[in-house]
Amino acid sequence: ISLKPYNTFGIDVTAKHFVAVTNHTELTQVLALKEYPEKLILGGGSNMLLTQDQDKLVIHIHIKGIEIVSEDENTVLVKANAGENWHEFVMWCIKQDFGGLENLSLIPGNVGTAPIQNIGAYGVELKDSFVSCETIAFEDNKKHVFNKSDCHFGYRNSIFKQDKKGKHIITSVTFQLTKKQHQLHTHYGTIAAQLKDMGVETPTIQDISKAVIHIRESKLPNPKVIGNSGSFFKNPVISQHHYNRLLKNFNDMPSYSVSDHEVKVPAGWLIEKAGFKGKRFDTYGVHKNQALVLVNYGKAKGSDILKLSELIQKTIYKLFDISIEAEVNIL
Ligand code: EPU
Repeated sequence: ISLKPYNTFGIDVTAKHFVAVTNHTELTQVLALKEYPEKLILGGGSNMLLTQDQDKLVIHIHIKGIEIVSEDENTVLVKANAGENWHEFVMWCIKQDFGGLENLSLIPGNVGTAPIQNIGAYGVELKDSFVSCETIAFEDNKKHVFNKSDCHFGYRNSIFKQDKKGKHIITSVTFQLTKKQHQLHTHYGTIAAQLKDMGVETPTIQDISKAVIHIRESKLPNPKVIGNSGSFFKNPVISQHHYNRLLKNFNDMPSYSVSDHEVKVPAGWLIEKAGFKGKRFDTYGVHKNQALVLVNYGKAKGSDILKLSELIQKTIYKLFDISIEAEVNIL
């Protein structure tokens, strides 16, 4: 079957063998199938670039359900199954007035893949309200639990991209959310400005969600209209020394401090400076409003987009002596 509807980049590659599972039992049964030793797990398909037809058994995680595990006066533990759409889950929380995920509104993908790269936006990361996740390991086909400290969360990073890469399938995630005295994060530049534009003085989590949705819709292409995978690269971290050296030639280069001697620079800025923003190569290109996003205008091949990403990496390296790393998984 074609995997086009299953990846937000909209790349048309085929899977020889494909199965969608709707519960844990089905998943363990499928994992036990000896005739398919190699398996590829597909969640929301929002953080991958498919560059070739897949011979592996593709398992689509379609396990649904949201449940309140426990609550007290101020907080609530909510467990969401892996196949829930991330944004719909966030909207559900906002409707219940459960706070914590509002800044993460409109991020594409599913709940089960969100911890792998510790999704983040507008000053908040998944790890901030993450409690634990349940997985099934390929090795023993049994249930495992990872608490927050087990996950080694970092910037767009976790144990599931490191030591445990390809070893577990996340089946549910539990979050701790607030019922009152919500901790609002409005310090990220564009959010404050957006709330002001909306005429909001004392924002609620609903207002923040609306502001985030507005900003994302204005900058980021809707994958249903133009195929994309969000930020294609991570924002690189460089030494303060390196940054100071670059400032001599590029005095408007933005940066965020990450430690005493290191800064993070926006890859989108570097790519724009390198002249790629809005560049279109027939069926694919670089988004016009956010240079960090590579786009498929319709019939692009994964390998075309991969080649473009390599050209961007090479150019950035030549211009700034900075290596930028892909954030999406290349398969
Ligand atoms: N910038 C440019 N040109 C561009 C894009 C950005 O100059 O084409 C500059 C902006 O002017 C700004 C800075 O870069 O000074 C940061 O831009 P923005 O606020 O858009 O955020 P970002 O660093 O490009 C990160 C995340 C996004 C997330 C936003 C908002 C990464 C890799 N990306 O992007 O996450 O939505 O911050 O918090 O960290 C994703 O991971 O898929 C994603 C979309």
